[in-house]
This record gives sequence, structure tokens and C-alpha cells, in this order.
Amino acid sequence: MKIAFVGKGGSGKTTLSSLFVRHLVATGAPVLAIDADINQHLGAALGLGEAEAAALPAMGEQLPLIKNHLRGANPRIASAETMIKTTPPGEGSRLVRVREPNPVYDACARPVELDGGAVRLMVTGPFTDADLGVACYHSKTGAVELLLNHLVDGRDEYVVVDMTAGSDSFASGMFTRFDITFLVAEPTRKGVSVYRQYKEYARDFGIVLQVVGNKVQGQEDLDFLRAEVGDDLLVTVGHSDWVRAMEKGRPPRFELLEDVNRRALRKLRVAADATYEMRDWERYTRQMVHFHLKNAEAWGNERTGADLAAQVDPGYVLGESVAAPA
Ligand SMILES: Nc1ncnc2c1ncn2[C@@H]1O[C@H](COP(=O)(O)OP(=O)(O)OP(=O)(O)O)[C@@H](O)[C@H]1O
Ligand SMILES: [Mg+2]
Repeated sequence: MKIAFVGKGGSGKTTLSSLFVRHLVATGAPVLAIDADINQHLGAALGLGEAEAAALPAMGEQLPLIKNHLRGANPRIASAETMIKTTPPGEGSRLVRVREPNPVYDACARPVELDGGAVRLMVTGPFTDADLGVACYHSKTGAVELLLNHLVDGRDEYVVVDMTAGSDSFASGMFTRFDITFLVAEPTRKGVSVYRQYKEYARDFGIVLQVVGNKVQGQEDLDFLRAEVGDDLLVTVGHSDWVRAMEKGRPPRFELLEDVNRRALRKLRVAADATYEMRDWERYTRQMVHFHLKNAEAWGNERTGADLAAQVDPGYVLGESVAAPA
């Protein structure tokens, strides 16, 4: 199950992503956590020290390796240089699974020990000004998009992405890559304006978007969110002393998280799990092709000097039943 946490800067994306990851891991579920946020804080929120977090390998610096692995023996992709962030898999491509060992995880993922198990953590690496353009070739999130487009995840396997709700994710197809998107919103006008913008983009793509109210204090906050986002409001989270203690570098055991917040996390889990039945790999594949053609035309063909539309394998549908070539 692919799950994104998006929202305005400072709304609590990283905090809620990390709590959700801790919740999943505590139940024994296999989890891949990906930090694709402009502010790279997921490692710290999962308990890594500053030096440990800084030592994490950056996906953005491993693009050639990632591309070479994923393209495998796909004859439609002549070289890693012609593979852009939206290049879809086809016959011969290598697919990635949540639980397996593979060269991409070897290069870019590190295990982080949590109560009850470990999570595999990947980070895009810090963003520079050049990464924040509209459709850039070297975009750090491109590494994540490529990975998601080659990932076949089953029920009870989780990929949790901490992500910015910026223009980059809309220019590419990134925002369409998830079974469910949790939009974290504080009960403020700015918080819900990000929701409106996201909803607008999401409308035509069948995105499952649910709002998680954060830093909600009391009935007035709740009424405000209800009035602004209606039925899209899934659950609200208040101030957490557990989170505050963790921020001070003294993380209590996860089982000591406040009951009300544990219930909120379970609700997120139930909502995520419920989307499994709605999965449509054909649509998922169609959408990646749609965004690939769009990016090819907008900048990819010119930048690579190749006709990137030819990378599309017309009969190919990604899915759990697609066998990975050796
Ligand atoms: N429910 C909560 N209880 C207590 N503190 C919280 C809660 N949610 C978020 N915070 C605190 O608010 C701050 C911002 O949260 P966080 O870093 O998760 O937001 P973000 O959306 O990821 O921000 P950025 O855009 O900077 O990445 C952090 O210091 C975090 O500890
Ligand atoms: Mg963050």
C-alpha cells in the first residue's frame, strides 16, 4: 500500500508520517519509508541522531544506479541517460518489491530500529534551488517517482512517503502514485487552501484524498475543519506530549503514545487498507504513461535528444502478477 503524507510546510507531515510508520512497524508490518520532503526530517523523526541522519545515502545521488537497475533488459530504454523520472516500466524492466533485497535498497536504503521492528528508510537528499523548478531533469523526487512506478506492493506491505505538496509533484505524476494521500492540515485558512489546491489537481485522476487535521484544539478547530473540508476530514490529532518529548531527543516507548493519537493512527491504517479493493493497475499504468508523454513533450525529448514516447510499451500493465525477470 502506497501512502503519501502531504500538506503545507510545518503542518506536521513528517511528524504524522513518522508516527504512522512507527504504528505499522509495531504491528509487524513491512514498511519502506521515504523522505521526499523539501525539509529532510523523517530520519530524525524516526529517532536518528543528527550525524546518523546526515550519513543516510541520498537517492538523488544514485539516479544512474537506480535507472540502470530498473531499466534492466527493457529494449525500449536504450540507456540510463534517456531514462527520465516518468519513464514507465515495460517488458524486460526490473520491478521492485517492498520486502526483497535489491541493489537499489543496498545503495539507498538503511534500516532504522524502532520499537517492535525496523523500517527501511530512503531519503531523496537535501534539495537545492535547482531542484525546485517546475519540470527539472535532475529533480530529486524523480528518483522516488521512478521507484514507485516500478514497485509492486501487495496487501499488508507499506510504503510511506513524506512529501511536499509543491508544484513539482503536480508537474510530474508523483501525486497519482498512491493508494491514499493523507493531507495534513492545521485548522487555518492556509492549511485548508493547500487542501483545495490538491483536491483540484486530484479531481481528474481518481486520487483518494483524506484530510488529517493536526494541532487541533477543541471544538472550534474541529468545526472549522469540518466546514472547510467536509467529508474528506478523516481524523484529527491534537497536541501530543509524546511528540514533544521526542523532539527533545527523549523518545518515550511508542506504546506510551497517547490513546487518542493511537486511535487516530489506527484510523489511518484502516483507511489505507480499505483502498486495496479499489486498486486499478491498468489505470495506474495509464496514468504513468500519460505523465511520461507530457514530460517527454514538455522537456524530455529535447533534453535527451531521443523520442521518449517510444519508451512506452503499449501492451504492458504493471501489477502484482507481473513476474520480475532475473
Ligand atoms: N500533533 C503534534 N503534537 C506536538 N507537536 C507537533 C504535532 N504535530 C507537529 N508537531 C511539531 O510541529 C513542528 C512541525 O511538524 P513537522 O516537522 O512534522 O511538519 P512538516 O509538515 O513536516 O514541516 P516541513 O514542511 O518543515 O517539513 C515540529 O516541531 C513537530 O514536532
Ligand atoms: Mg517535514
